[in-house]
Amino acid sequence: MNVRSAERGTLRDMTAYRVMESSYTAGSPRITFDLSSNELAHPPLPTVLAGVQECLPRLGRYPDPTARELTEEIAGHLCLSPDEVAVGPGSAGALQQVLLALCGEGDEVVYAWPGFDAYPLLVAVSGATSVRVPLTESGDHDLDEIRARVGARTRVVILCSPHNPTGSVIDQGKLHGFLRSLPDRVIAVVDEAYVEFERGGDPPGVPTVLRENGNAVILRTFSKAYGLAGLRVGYAAGPRQVMATVRKTAIPFGVTRLAERAAILSLRSPAQLRDRMAAVITARAELTAGLRELGLPVLPSRGNFVWLPLTSAAESFARTAAMAGVKVRAFPGHGVRITVGEAEAHRILLTALGHRDRGN
Ligand SMILES: Cc1ncc(COP(=O)(O)O)c(C=O)c1O
Repeated sequence: MNVRSAERGTLRDMTAYRVMESSYTAGSPRITFDLSSNELAHPPLPTVLAGVQECLPRLGRYPDPTARELTEEIAGHLCLSPDEVAVGPGSAGALQQVLLALCGEGDEVVYAWPGFDAYPLLVAVSGATSVRVPLTESGDHDLDEIRARVGARTRVVILCSPHNPTGSVIDQGKLHGFLRSLPDRVIAVVDEAYVEFERGGDPPGVPTVLRENGNAVILRTFSKAYGLAGLRVGYAAGPRQVMATVRKTAIPFGVTRLAERAAILSLRSPAQLRDRMAAVITARAELTAGLRELGLPVLPSRGNFVWLPLTSAAESFARTAAMAGVKVRAFPGHGVRITVGEAEAHRILLTALGHRDRGN
């Protein structure tokens, strides 16, 4: 069989998703701290760890394919109706469902770049083509340019706020102006994977972007602030007609019973989440100050990571970190993203960078 001719055209130049392993970590001593994937440096919330035990005896049974309880819990949290919510295996899974539901061959999806690594692959899986718009120098979305690139073939625009990798937040007023300017046939997906770090928690209520715009879908996840990256659970929320079609592209039983239970318990523990967020925000300020004291450029971030626009020096920075046993994420030619992690990881990293500067 000629696989190349059977393969979807948009997949030909893509590689399967993987966490970037780069030349700068090769040959380094054992990595002790991984600050490259924006995972939480804390375990899941205490009530979640205790509560998921009750699911273990039922692991031999399929979960509820509609994840009804979780869908209702999220809807209650967002003051929406359950048919305005679609859960998925992580927000990457939910985004894949959205793109498969809305896009196909010949369509275009516009988004800012650099951005979340999975966007190009998920767009290609849907059969559509990516249109990438460079971030501004300050690491923000260039909304005018994104709007200018929306054409007759555009089906979806993805915006990410706080943005991965820079941590910038899209101004609400500008966001609403942008959304109102879009043609009716275009859906804007606002990826809010890091929104709890911006807000210091996950307060209930209708997300403003949904209240004010009929063409917006939000994406949220339990992977980041709630620390459940290993369980794979996230969701999309938006207009009920869109969510009805997004549900059709889900992998059957994609959200496991364990993930569903953990996510429900997470939403019911707002005080524990707020404590976590406060700790991350303090650690982010300390890391930012430590890096700036070394004369390094650090953009203000509202996520659980910081961004250094180091351009051509990104890889050598990441190599220095790896040699000290700390993995960070280099975007060659753009910069370095460092996840806010354990105090010890920050100490080791800052010490290694300090020695490097003195050695130069
Ligand atoms: C902006 C953004 N969106 C979505 C995701 C996907 O997260 P998950 O699929 O674990 O929910 C990530 C993960 O790094 C991300 O950075």
